[in-house]
Amino acid sequence: MKKTAQLYEGKAKKVFDTDTEGIVIVSYKDDATALDGLKKGTIMGKGTINNRMSNYLMQLLEKEGIPTHFVEELSDRETAVKKVTIVPLEVIVRNISAGHFAQRYGVEEGIVFDEPTIEFSYKNDDLHDPLLNAYHAVALGLADKSEIQLIKSMAFRINDILKEFFKTKKVKLVDFKMEFGRLPDGTIVLADEISPDTCRFWDLETNEKLDKDRFRRDMGGVEDAYEEMYRRVFG
Ligand code: TMP
Repeated sequence: MKKTAQLYEGKAKKVFDTDTEGIVIVSYKDDATALDGLKKGTIMGKGTINNRMSNYLMQLLEKEGIPTHFVEELSDRETAVKKVTIVPLEVIVRNISAGHFAQRYGVEEGIVFDEPTIEFSYKNDDLHDPLLNAYHAVALGLADKSEIQLIKSMAFRINDILKEFFKTKKVKLVDFKMEFGRLPDGTIVLADEISPDTCRFWDLETNEKLDKDRFRRDMGGVEDAYEEMYRRVFG
């Protein structure tokens, strides 16, 4: 399989077309942004860590019956994935209060929920990814009712699997963001990435932050946190 034209460059990844029908290649960058791209930086080694970690987790999920876009890891930074049309929703599952949830509702971080929550944002940088509910998503034609239902049940199942997995690595999965895509036949699959960019990870004992919040909040130790998560997942 060979790369052909670049199809897209996002904030953290590039996507290339290939000479194989239905397959694209994702290339992970070390670039990091926050606050809708206002804050820019580099996290050395992030591309490799996110690529390998995301691929490992997608394969774990596939084994548990969750369809994903993953096809084959090609190199440290590059992965072949199924070409999908992204459903323009950021699907966020939370187990513990943090980030925008804590801000929006005026509560402290660290409240452990009895049941996980789910929320959707409209993936639209110009509008700053506004929060929306399932009715809004259907009204806007972003997904139909049955797709929303399926995405919800997949998201909670993915949370159950990942939460258990990370517990064995002495990590709390606080919250995370997923994106789903449609294959040409309409099948919904998990797409994008699962990494310290898109998840909040806290050490099980100390609650030390081991994710992109260290970059978002200028806490320092950003590279160390990504490397520590890599070691825990693969160690
Ligand atoms: P939030 O608390 O800022 O809404 O973030 C919830 C989760 O989603 C957190 O694990 C980080 C992730 N996330 C992204 O992956 N991309 C984003 O643009 C934002 C805002 C959050």
